[in-house]
Amino acid sequence: MMRNIAILASGTGTNAENIIRYFSNDNRAKVNLVLSNRSQAMVLERAAALGVDAFFFDRSQFYDTGEVLMMLQRRESDLIVLAGFLWLVPAAVIEAFRGRIINIHPALLPRFGGKGMYGDRVHRAVLDAGCSESGITIHYVNEQYDSGDIIFQARCPVLPDDDVQSLAARVHELEYRHYPEVISRMMDQIGSRH
Ligand code: GAR
Repeated sequence: MMRNIAILASGTGTNAENIIRYFSNDNRAKVNLVLSNRSQAMVLERAAALGVDAFFFDRSQFYDTGEVLMMLQRRESDLIVLAGFLWLVPAAVIEAFRGRIINIHPALLPRFGGKGMYGDRVHRAVLDAGCSESGITIHYVNEQYDSGDIIFQARCPVLPDDDVQSLAARVHELEYRHYPEVISRMMDQIGSRH
């Protein structure tokens, strides 16, 4: 039975595109929905260009009316993948998809996580702290930012002459290499819901 992956993303969407492409030739799972809380987010165009249904939603559709949850259920999502998504996921969605929502964070949690820690701000903090390594963390999503159980981590060095851009590029490479594979392994573990 084909499993369905839904992606929530707020920004550029290079991870979303990478995941869509990875599963486009997979006969067990595919990305069938991309949702963004920003109407102008490039991720919506990227997904649409690859033939994936992609929609904008606003704060009230996420937190008040339950429309986003209904959409995920109607599309028979088996796994919800956050890829650069900046809003806290409401409890109703987490309860409905317990163990089926994952996030990627561009550093080695539990350090450098929490509200407001995303993208370049994370890399800036890692550099300011003088760390000699950084990496990625893939974890379950719970009711607080960046604190769910860790599924996978990978590390990379921080080099003496790194700036935010060069460190971000190195971390992105780790994301592109590992996120689809971790998702693929999870698809094997979790049952189909439809
Ligand atoms: C990624 O590096 C992801 O790890 C990060 O946002 C970037 C999105 O890039 N997520 C967070 O910082 C979450 N706190 P993309 O839109 O090109 O995939």
